[in-house]
Amino acid sequence: EETVVRRDRFSGGPAREFLSSLAGDERIFTADLAVDRAHVVMLAEQEIISDEEAGWILDALADVENAGHGDLSGGEDVHEAIESAVIDRIGPDGGKMHTARSRNDEVAACIRYRLRADLLEAIETTLALREALIDAAAEHTDTLMPGYTHLQPAQPITVGHFLMSYASTISRDTARLLDAYDRTNESPLGGAAFAGTPFDIDRERTAALLGFDRVVDNSMDASSARDFLAEATAALAIHATTLSGLAEDIVIFANKGYIDLSDDYSSTSSIMPQKKNPDTLELTRAVAGDATGELTGLLTTLKGLPQAYNRDLQRAHPHTFRAVDAVVEASAVAAGAVSTASWNEKLLADEAGAGFSTATGIADLLAMAGLPFRTAHEVVALAAEEAEDRDTGVSAALLDSATEDVLGESLFKYVDEQAVAAALDPAQSVESRDSQGGPATAAVESTIAGA
Ligand code: ARG
Repeated sequence: EETVVRRDRFSGGPAREFLSSLAGDERIFTADLAVDRAHVVMLAEQEIISDEEAGWILDALADVENAGHGDLSGGEDVHEAIESAVIDRIGPDGGKMHTARSRNDEVAACIRYRLRADLLEAIETTLALREALIDAAAEHTDTLMPGYTHLQPAQPITVGHFLMSYASTISRDTARLLDAYDRTNESPLGGAAFAGTPFDIDRERTAALLGFDRVVDNSMDASSARDFLAEATAALAIHATTLSGLAEDIVIFANKGYIDLSDDYSSTSSIMPQKKNPDTLELTRAVAGDATGELTGLLTTLKGLPQAYNRDLQRAHPHTFRAVDAVVEASAVAAGAVSTASWNEKLLADEAGAGFSTATGIADLLAMAGLPFRTAHEVVALAAEEAEDRDTGVSAALLDSATEDVLGESLFKYVDEQAVAAALDPAQSVESRDSQGGPATAAVESTIAGA
């Protein structure tokens, strides 16, 4: 009877829809059933309810699960609606399920339980993307390409080196998600409304039944803390930012003809018949906006909330769920685009030396021969200016005259012609940069072997 009165009291009113989270709670429907079951088992083990009552409740929960979230009605949220559905099935004893807990510790447990699975999916997606990058890198350890800073040709590198740079960032993205998982995987159950309970509950037991690593000790913290959401969303936003950079690079490379996207990851224009556009990567790039928006929305929701539970929290976790959905999708698309794209090796090799990108290598060569690097830099800069004025490439002869201008000596006093020719050659320039983590084939191969 009491339950009916309570339900009626809050069943009407113009703010009813505004208050209710039932529709969005579909995401935590299964989690709530798991949390209910663990709690009921613990209550029976602690002899707070009888085994018989626990059995009735567990049977009813199985039936509620079969009926599905869509069958729920009434109640402000999934927690109330499931409780009502249990009571509808077995009568007032169903109300014993809510002994020694509150919706506050209950919802916190549900969010953590669900987010665990979501974070694992996100982690798997980052691993798949990293694998796609590594596989593509392994095929292109000696494929030359121009490397850029400020989007200007800077030094020739290999495609393998470029791809492994993102593989490296993404391994940190994965690690951040794993850290977030670790702090998500703690049990708030037993915190009750925020102030604990007089019942002799076993918090370690519900934590263990639900697979949580440990209990969040302080009951106020347990029921109301949402920093785990902030951490997870931040990790997702950071990964989305990584993806946006990768997507941007691919969009630019597609524009230059360096890379051909598979048709599966391209779009056509509805009017221009010749177009093949990198829309999937542009959308991937845009997901950073979604993820960062969700992070900002979440942090702004959490900012300044006093202890303990406040209803604002009902609008907190949806930010994280939206972020994880958007980022998982984008990350999977990026992996597909990378693994199906082809690199135009000939064009890339032609472009690798463009813009006198071997200049640094020449300066390195002179410095290795004993010139102070700053002086070597000056010589090569002068030759580069001269070449630009004359609209030619940089040659050994130009470098020699620049050396005369700067030092009053011949270039060939320091290095022989063959060494200069080698340094001017993009392929040999790349192979010479075999320092740990460098672009030379051998260096990239050893990075891949250690990945
Ligand atoms: N649906 C709520 C939420 O998501 C949980 C209910 C707690 N409500 C309350 N008035 N204490 O946060």
